[in-house]
Amino acid sequence: MADRKPVKVTEEQLEEQRQFMREVRALPQRPRSYFVVTYGCQMNAHDSEILAGMLRDMGMEEAHDRENADFVLFNTCCVRDNAERRALGNVTWLKEVRKRNPNLVIGVCGCMIQQPGMAEKIMKQYRFVDLAFGTSNLYRLPELLCRTLNSDRAVVEVEDEDTIAEDLPVRRLRQDAAYITIMYGCDNFCSYCIVPYVRGRERSRDMDDILREAETLRNSGVKEIMLLGQNVNSYGKGLEGGATFAELLRRLDDMDIPRIRFMTSHPKDLSDELIDVMRGSRHILPQFHLPVQSGSDEILRQMNRRYTREQYLNRVRALRDAVPGIGLTTDIIVGFPGETEEQFQDTMSLVKEVGYDSAFTFIYSPRKGTRAAAMDGQINEAVATDRIQRLIALQDQCQKEAMARFLGQEEEVLVEGLSRRSDKAVSGKGRHGVSITLPGTEEDVGQIVRVRVNEIKNNTLMAERL
Ligand code: SAH
Ligand code: SF4
Ligand code: F3S
Repeated sequence: MADRKPVKVTEEQLEEQRQFMREVRALPQRPRSYFVVTYGCQMNAHDSEILAGMLRDMGMEEAHDRENADFVLFNTCCVRDNAERRALGNVTWLKEVRKRNPNLVIGVCGCMIQQPGMAEKIMKQYRFVDLAFGTSNLYRLPELLCRTLNSDRAVVEVEDEDTIAEDLPVRRLRQDAAYITIMYGCDNFCSYCIVPYVRGRERSRDMDDILREAETLRNSGVKEIMLLGQNVNSYGKGLEGGATFAELLRRLDDMDIPRIRFMTSHPKDLSDELIDVMRGSRHILPQFHLPVQSGSDEILRQMNRRYTREQYLNRVRALRDAVPGIGLTTDIIVGFPGETEEQFQDTMSLVKEVGYDSAFTFIYSPRKGTRAAAMDGQINEAVATDRIQRLIALQDQCQKEAMARFLGQEEEVLVEGLSRRSDKAVSGKGRHGVSITLPGTEEDVGQIVRVRVNEIKNNTLMAERL
């Protein structure tokens, strides 16, 4: 594995795909509409925007829902068992839809397919699937779809290459905010995690390519960019010229894009240089997603996270010193193999000590092929469920306390849409990453609005316009 080199997709290869797009467009039997169903993280959400971009360029329109689409593509996740089961359940359900629409084309792609033996298993057990492909050959969708439409047999293609493809078409979910992937894959091999196996080795895009993309987005009026990677802090590893994430942020900060966010950061790679950039920045938002996973040193060691509780807390203090009031969020796993009640209490005390604005909490899910799946001391479900409930209750309490710092404060909200509770209100995220509701109409969507927070309701900040 160690000698795998990233492969940059060439202009000729991209041109070949554009040729396939033209071919699909000319096919009489081609689907007229598509629907992409997305599971998993932001990386997948952005991949789906690219898939949709390619489908649009093949002359298809987005359907309102999957029941009415001619081509349904599932972009799957396998980080936990339930993500995988949900995807497969929905694929099966489409079999019924196909009875009504015999021309329906069903595709499955993404992380789940990239697991060893999975594509074969799907094709055997789900014979109605027409097309399956993995994460590294996503850019070849035009070719694969073309082959599918020209044949009676299913097309399956899973490669094990670490590709980087530039300049793919994108159909963005939002006009005012955009994702930019800055690095692919992960080399960390946390013992519970499947991502390094399904997303390949860590590889960074050239800084110039990223800056060019950011510039285009800024010129088209985008107000917020979100930089994506499984471990954005280690951006630049393997690139010539010693590029770092801090350097990339500095260059982006000078570009006058109103808001810049990023995720995910690994605590072990969070450098002082990066914290310094955040301190002096104009556009990098005062928020930080810093997954801790556990508050116990022994569990952290077993997880192969390569930091201690104290080192983590030290990073939190450094961030708070540099950016007072910074919005902190995290990911936590409970029920890792061998986790004792006492070790779980270490996680509880850490949550109390940090006081996160929000925390994504997960019950450990064994993933085949990972080191933790073979460890002794797998925790039973009842114990794990009890722990996560106690953790969620504690975090809820901590969140309320954390939110109090916004009362009476001014904020800026990038309005995302009408509020679900009232048609005279809109909501969006403040600079610190917290949801804020304010009076407004459809016209405010995509605008940055100055507000003052005057109430906290169910962990949402209610604000008035300034
Ligand atoms: N690269 C990011 C996120 C990876 S996946 C990071 O390192 O933080 C998102 C989250 O899913 C992880 O932070 C972790 O909390 C959770 N997760 C990953 N594998 C898991 C597993 N096997 N069981 C339960 N949760 C898991
Ligand atoms: Fe998974 Fe760890 Fe990589 Fe995150 S850093 S993707 S948790 S292996
Ligand atoms: Fe899931 Fe793949 Fe993301 S496994 S969490 S979609 S990288």
